[in-house]
Amino acid sequence: MSDEIDLKDLPGVGEKTAEKLIEEGYKDLMSLAAASSGEIVGKTSIGEATAKKIINGARKELEMGFETAKKVYEDKEDVTQISTGSEEIDSLIGGGVETQSITEVYGSYGSGKTQLAFQLAVNVQKEMGEGGLNKGCVFIDTENTFRPERVKEIAEAEGMDPEEILDNIYVARAYNSDHQMVLTNESDEILETEGVGLVIVDSLTGQFRADYTGRGDLARRQQKLNRHLHDLQRLAEVYNVAVFISNQVMSKPDVMFGDPTEAIGGHILHHAAAFRMYLRRGKGETRICKLVDSPYKPEGEAPFKITEEGIVDK
Ligand code: GTP
Ligand code: MG
Repeated sequence: MSDEIDLKDLPGVGEKTAEKLIEEGYKDLMSLAAASSGEIVGKTSIGEATAKKIINGARKELEMGFETAKKVYEDKEDVTQISTGSEEIDSLIGGGVETQSITEVYGSYGSGKTQLAFQLAVNVQKEMGEGGLNKGCVFIDTENTFRPERVKEIAEAEGMDPEEILDNIYVARAYNSDHQMVLTNESDEILETEGVGLVIVDSLTGQFRADYTGRGDLARRQQKLNRHLHDLQRLAEVYNVAVFISNQVMSKPDVMFGDPTEAIGGHILHHAAAFRMYLRRGKGETRICKLVDSPYKPEGEAPFKITEEGIVDK
């Protein structure tokens, strides 16, 4: 894309300003176009009026703004899906995990979030038409639970070359929430050059919960999470990749009936994730996937199993 333009070519940007912007991570037009003036002012001490000028300049350069429904429709035609390994889940969510959107999976420990992530990291590498995109995967591991041996096992069960599968998964371990956000923004480079179809963040919220523990921290945590989700959504749209995030649940002690759990992050995730799946345990290997939110599919449930071979229908 035309992102190659020098920041200094934007109105209101001199050498000094360009340096400041780059230092704060605004390396390309898209990151500026997606920024708010308040955020730029806060980070760089550039004046409000100039910040607005820069943002508008970047948006103009990228030709952002209104577009016709036909164009939107054509962009949507590029949307493709990655199979979860379970036909039941795939049909529940409309064919699989979609590119250009964020899909969230939430559930308590052992419900299968990480296993589903591993399966998707393998499946994205299958051919188009066979449940994959013939592309690789970026895996941001925030809980130190990425297990190459398990990915290998799933790949073998799929009849794929396990070494090759591992070679196409770009794993980064995030040590804290800021690091997680930096890694996300650094993914651009891999997404531009390595033919990636899926970005996984497992889990989205763990580090944020650890870093913002005090009562007074909540607003800041939500603000950061919101920023992080925007960054992920940007990756989804700019590179036509699927973004798959996992999330823990917290118990709601005030709920007397029904399921007394809800996803961490509250309304922020509600807005950011186009698809939300809730996993819970059934008997033995059985798990139940509930579609909670989707742009076009009704709510519903699908049973599945976690076996040696990975995620399969019940
Ligand atoms: P947390 O990250 O702790 O919140 O849990 P999670 O939802 O990510 O659970 P995860 O996907 O790690 O594990 C779900 C279940 O998958 C486990 O309870 C096991 O039953 C099963 N499982 C995990 N690893 C393996 C494995 O290597 N082989 C098989 N057959 N099953 C596994
Ligand atoms: Mg997990």
